[in-house]
Amino acid sequence: MEVIFSETIRGDDLDVVIVVVSDDALHFIADKLRSLIDEKSVEYIQTACKELSYNKIKKFGLISLDGKYIEIIVAGAGKRGTSSRASIEKLGGYIYDAIKSKGAKVGIYNDVESELDRVAAYLASGIALKSWVFDKYKTSKVSENKVTNIECQSCCAPINQEEFAKLTAIRDGAFLVREMVTEPANIMNPDKILEISLSLKKLGIKVTVLKKRDMEKLGMNAILGVGRGSDNPTYLIALEYCTDRTKDRIALVGKGLTFDAGGICIKPSNKMGDMKGDMTGAAVVIGVLKSLALQKMKTNVVGVIGVTENMISGGAQRPGDVVVSMSKKTIEVDNTDAEGRLVLADAIWYTHKKYRPKIMIDLATLTGAIQVALGHEFAGLFANDDDLAKDLDSSGTSVGEKLWRLPLHPSYEKDIKSDIADIKNVGSGRGAGSITAAMFLKEFVPDTIKWAHIDIAATEWDAKDRALSKRGATGFGVRLLNDFIERRSESRGETSS
Ligand code: BES
Ligand code: ZN
Ligand code: ZN
Repeated sequence: MEVIFSETIRGDDLDVVIVVVSDDALHFIADKLRSLIDEKSVEYIQTACKELSYNKIKKFGLISLDGKYIEIIVAGAGKRGTSSRASIEKLGGYIYDAIKSKGAKVGIYNDVESELDRVAAYLASGIALKSWVFDKYKTSKVSENKVTNIECQSCCAPINQEEFAKLTAIRDGAFLVREMVTEPANIMNPDKILEISLSLKKLGIKVTVLKKRDMEKLGMNAILGVGRGSDNPTYLIALEYCTDRTKDRIALVGKGLTFDAGGICIKPSNKMGDMKGDMTGAAVVIGVLKSLALQKMKTNVVGVIGVTENMISGGAQRPGDVVVSMSKKTIEVDNTDAEGRLVLADAIWYTHKKYRPKIMIDLATLTGAIQVALGHEFAGLFANDDDLAKDLDSSGTSVGEKLWRLPLHPSYEKDIKSDIADIKNVGSGRGAGSITAAMFLKEFVPDTIKWAHIDIAATEWDAKDRALSKRGATGFGVRLLNDFIERRSESRGETSS
């Protein structure tokens, strides 16, 4: 499907005409459609579209002045002056749903805000985001029309090319995440994640790989313990994108469990297959770095991912085992299914030791409890710094990847006290599962680092269609972190705090 943003309505060579209007712009519909359909039909559409609220879409099948059947769709953008990037991208997603089974050429005419060129870019971005499908393993391909090209023809609302290029780079990162998350665990295994990481070298990203031997030497027994039950290798991979080495960098850390069977504390079989997505944190780190490099953004970011698989075998770690982490803190593995925090404990400590970042943000599908707390709408945010939490929250709002802050309070510390080691990997209190997991991570973060933890266990995947993604992987986090990193780079001229 080709989507064209154009000033002049050329109904003769379009299969669908879309008019996007604010609630006070019905005259715009008339102006645009007069060249296409007769006055009576124009009036009919105007009447039908009175009080067309945000995200409401009306469809009309009419005969054009040339006697050709034409499909006209009017999409409501809401009250003039109230639209945002998030609301317009969402509208783009709804427009895609309205046209996905339609013809190949779609023309869009919009009159939403003063910054029409930006609005056009956001609409195009929303349409493209929603059009992503994964049909690699289907022998007969999905029938809906994929968007193959978005172009702009002449004036009125030309797409802001710079904005569109930026959004395209970000989308490439988000699509990579969706693909990695959707691929089954027999394909998206640690070696495959390593291969994808190494492929980013061509974009100017430096990739460092720690294998089992290297990790043993560094004393990374927390992550190594998790991988012991698997026949697949364990890796710690660092991806560096730095445009000015004299400036500080932001560190992103990701949980990369290519499958989480739970280990000896095996998960119930129902929905266990969903645990192929337990590498989403790592995928988001990779996706963000890819999009930063594609944009050639001036910034310094290092991504560190702990990649392994939580399986069962005679060599698997047992509940009750004690491991000495790289930080030398000892951990009692009370539950082998709380493995993500073990992986992150070493990944966070290594990132601190090796890269000394002032800001660190980790992403992980860490707890099922976050779904109980927030459902699929908000990801859980934990932070040891109010400004960092605020900045992340506002980036989330502006791109529509929403965060809700939960407490990191010393009163929860007692829940992870162990009888025989420094700490244990599950809380003994009832409830607050996402908080005790975050409290565990905090044990490995020096107070000098501004740190945030984002629990994406319930936002990385949705069983229902969302505004910008179909049922399945969402790619949540890539757009959010791009916005956060871009704002930091812009406002401070550097990435330091
Ligand atoms: N990967 C899971 C968390 C998860 C659950 C992600 C559902 C996505 C959907 C994590 O490793 C885990 O198993 N957490 C346990 C912790 C418990 C043992 C304290 C959980 O949430 O049940
Ligand atoms: Zn687990
Ligand atoms: Zn897990």
